[in-house]
Amino acid sequence: MTEANAAPAMPRRASRPRYIEDGDVLPFEAPTPESTVALGPTGRPMPVIPEPGPRTSHGKARVISMCNQKGGVGKTTTTINLGAALAEYGRKVLLVDFDPQGSLSVGLGLNPHEMEFSVYNLLMDRDVDFHDVVVPSGVDGMDLLPSNIDLSAAEVQLVHEVAREQTLQRVLRDAVKEYDVVLIDCQPSLGLLTVNALTASDGVIVPLECEYFALRGVALLKTTIDKVRERLNPDLVIEGVLGTMYDGRTLHSREVMDRLVDAWGDTVFHTVIRRTVKFSDSTVAGEPITTYASSSAGATAYRDLAKEVLARCPDA
Ligand SMILES: Nc1ncnc2c1ncn2[C@@H]1O[C@H](COP(=O)(O)OP(=O)(O)O)[C@@H](O)[C@H]1O
Ligand SMILES: [Mg+2]
Repeated sequence: MTEANAAPAMPRRASRPRYIEDGDVLPFEAPTPESTVALGPTGRPMPVIPEPGPRTSHGKARVISMCNQKGGVGKTTTTINLGAALAEYGRKVLLVDFDPQGSLSVGLGLNPHEMEFSVYNLLMDRDVDFHDVVVPSGVDGMDLLPSNIDLSAAEVQLVHEVAREQTLQRVLRDAVKEYDVVLIDCQPSLGLLTVNALTASDGVIVPLECEYFALRGVALLKTTIDKVRERLNPDLVIEGVLGTMYDGRTLHSREVMDRLVDAWGDTVFHTVIRRTVKFSDSTVAGEPITTYASSSAGATAYRDLAKEVLARCPDA
């Protein structure tokens, strides 16, 4: 495989590692030159990320999609655990299961065959209201709009709708007023459901497995985000690129991380999520790692990610 087809349209930085430069606007305090600067797992100096302040009122939510057309990269895991960590910081969080596989709903202990209403009904039936569909997630301060395989029919049926790309945005309009953060777990494709998620969002988080082949297809994802920004949602931003399933002991993981930082610069989150079996265990238990193994490295990583996300999005 050539470098070109691995990531053809990615901007390259002139030199690396790229340290924080004078004039860079950082949403958090940069380490001072006098201090011994520890390099983080992304090869950049680790900034001091502030503890998030409390929220005194709730709404209007920042809507963030977890998006990558590759499956198995940690979208669902990140949606559950980032959501739970944000809820620990006092944010009112709504998770939207927008993948017909329903892994987010199952991962929070729901039975896909026992849903009275799901996101499918919310999208397709004008008589169904957001409050008919939303359910508690089992985590304080975090609710869920569940899905099951029915959602796959929506992708086909939406094609015939007026303003088909704006359907999710329309049905979330009321919900956005009640929450601080809405996280949408996208399906592994760049089809109409994902375009709906991007149209409804203020920002995108791109989880990327720290594995060489993960870099393929990122250019296509970026093109899709750019098209949605041009045609449907001019304010859409890439909130950050998140390295997942990182294994610092392998040269391979570190090389992939270097290439990510090469291509995306400071868009890459300083927080990385390491590979650990605890994530699969917590899915089986039907709860986030922040409650299943509260003091584990994985739980700490998602709390760090929550802090970084809140530092990048001060309105959340
Ligand atoms: N950091 C991690 N370390 C180890 N396993 C992980 C990690 N993140 C996710 N997994 C596991 O990898 C699988 C795919 O993750 P998932 O979040 O469902 O990906 P996606 O939603 O992108 O398809 C799941 O079994 C999950 O438990
Ligand atoms: Mg998933």
